[in-house]
Amino acid sequence: MNNHFERTGPLTELTSYPQWAQDLVAACEPARRRVRDHLMWDLMGTGRIDHATMRNFMVGTWSLIERFPSFMAQNLLKTQYGRSAGDNLARRWLVRNIRVEQNHAEYWLDWAEGAGVAREEVLKGRPPRGTQAAAEWCHEVCGRDTLAAGIAATNYAIEGVTGDWSQKVYDSVAYAQGLPQAGRKATLRWLQLHAAYDDTHPWEALEIVCTLMGNHPAPEEVAHLQECIERSYVSLHYGLERCLVQEVAEQVEEQAA
Ligand SMILES: [Fe+2]
Repeated sequence: MNNHFERTGPLTELTSYPQWAQDLVAACEPARRRVRDHLMWDLMGTGRIDHATMRNFMVGTWSLIERFPSFMAQNLLKTQYGRSAGDNLARRWLVRNIRVEQNHAEYWLDWAEGAGVAREEVLKGRPPRGTQAAAEWCHEVCGRDTLAAGIAATNYAIEGVTGDWSQKVYDSVAYAQGLPQAGRKATLRWLQLHAAYDDTHPWEALEIVCTLMGNHPAPEEVAHLQECIERSYVSLHYGLERCLVQEVAEQVEEQAA
């Protein structure tokens, strides 16, 4: 049985990957769906999002955006050129893509500003409780776990589902029209980049994970990857819920007053 995985099929087709990876993606789908189908994107997409929720989202997600290249750097530290095909692939890809991430923090601040959340607020404002779980989890898994687990949790899981929801919001005419005309293009830049660019990025991450793991990894290793990927989705979902909870809590207070 040949354990070495080398992709021959198209990058963006699940059937190009080993059966264990196809099963893994399917097993993680319910957790991913809870992020992809979150109310937050409907609120943005239909132009119904209120300022408090948008502020919570922008401030609460900031650390994940800002620290994302560092998570990739934590993974880069684990690679060693020449050790394996997976190491070589991961090293080349991480070096290249850390650079790609360079401007994304700035684009996030542009999005926030266009959406009415001042950059000072994003940089210094207090994030809602519970919204830092995803960034803390990424730091933990990239710092302490294997290269495959770190890449699966961040570049596959986080970026993958981010591509899903960015596409939804970016495609919404109502959202774009609700933004001030001046600077609209800059405001939408982050969304535009993540909707398109993340199209292939998470697939590339999956290819790296499969190259590192081979065709026949031990079931417990696959179970661990599943746990890591699901934890990324769950922490994102929890953070989104917390952004909304604050809003509901405030409304309840207003109604009671
Ligand atoms: Fe990015």
